[in-house]
Amino acid sequence: MSDTVNPGLENVLVAETRLSRIDGERGELLIGGFPVEDLAPNATYEECVFLLWNDRLPTAAELTDLREDLAGRRALSPESYATIRAAAEQGLPAMDAVRMGVASASLDAGEVDDPNTVARRLVAVVPTIVAAYWRYTMGEDPVDPDPDLRHAANFLYMLSGDRPDVDAVRGIETYFNAVIDHGLNASTFAGRVVVSTESDLVSAATAAVGALKGPLHGGAPGPVLDILTTVHEGEEAEAHLRNMLDEGDRLMGFGHRVYRVRDPRASVLEAAAERFYASGGDQAFFETVREVEEAGLAILAEHVADRNLATNVEFYTAALLNGVGIPRDLFTGTFAIGRVGGWTAHYLEQREDNRLIRPRGRYVGATGREWTPVGNR
Ligand code: CMC
Repeated sequence: MSDTVNPGLENVLVAETRLSRIDGERGELLIGGFPVEDLAPNATYEECVFLLWNDRLPTAAELTDLREDLAGRRALSPESYATIRAAAEQGLPAMDAVRMGVASASLDAGEVDDPNTVARRLVAVVPTIVAAYWRYTMGEDPVDPDPDLRHAANFLYMLSGDRPDVDAVRGIETYFNAVIDHGLNASTFAGRVVVSTESDLVSAATAAVGALKGPLHGGAPGPVLDILTTVHEGEEAEAHLRNMLDEGDRLMGFGHRVYRVRDPRASVLEAAAERFYASGGDQAFFETVREVEEAGLAILAEHVADRNLATNVEFYTAALLNGVGIPRDLFTGTFAIGRVGGWTAHYLEQREDNRLIRPRGRYVGATGREWTPVGNR
């Protein structure tokens, strides 16, 4: 038995997966066997979900079936709406509402014993939860899902109540596809740990949402947007970024645990953002995005000279989501909408060949203590 400690489980292989392959040295990502550059801008989200669940692309008929099935599972129970409303009214962050909304998806599942059905339900409800939270935050009632709209378009519709334009739908769908799966990232791993105990998929997804919330994982795009906005409003990029590092902050949107070069998803989302901003977005803002990236890379090259810190997915996520009109407070919740397809695929995969995930810790605490009753301390 090895006593080597691997903090952060870095470079530890804990499962075999056919869902995505990350080559951190070359900056390559395969999702369901396809390069992310081919899949993300071309597929619908439903096609990507089918691909991960079934290890192949759907036929036209299968795709229609899946679309209709997911569209039929979007509505939440009155109790879920009430919980999300309470979260919004108390000013809790969106991810708290997503966690409570996902946890309450058990309420109306009806067929909870079938994991494939629960997987469909989870994918279908996350957009409804995020949109309902936003509507309540704005003092409005949720917009009912529209079964005639595809998954991505329906999310934008439930946010605003307006039919989204085709460029915005393509932008958000490219984003969902690009982030649908990414190896054993923290949230995916957290859910697989839960499933490995033979617990249920709703419990696993609830754990995953908790892990995704943190700023070192899914919480980064909001702070990236803060940097972009500050610079866009007039502060000098280099001075602002240097100031952040002087204060001990990390530059959000740069660096990655696995990639040693540019995150390929950053390139996919950069292209999507460029297309979107060129189709009528705020071009001046997009120029700020480029300026901040250039300044950030130059400064990090000096600051952490021994490590090639490059742009990660969150940098262009902030640019793209802001462009298509997603409010900053919903960035991480929107990440969850994309990632839940991958989460559920991992749960089903874990169930196929399960082994309880149970690592060890090396004990470094006290020994030989003698018990003292509380009155004698
Ligand atoms: N800004 C400043 N310094 C950094 C940054 C950064 N963005 N990233 C890494 N460093 C420093 C880090 O402090 C470390 O120095 P030290 O050992 O003295 O603390 C050194 O570079 C090497 O770090 P590392 O081992 O490459 O980084 P890690 O694996 O510990 O952390 C990370 C990876 C993503 C948490 C980190 O790069 C980071 O905090 N980035 C900013 C937050 C961010 O953008 N998160 C989203 C990640 S992508 C989403 C996903 O796939 O989940």
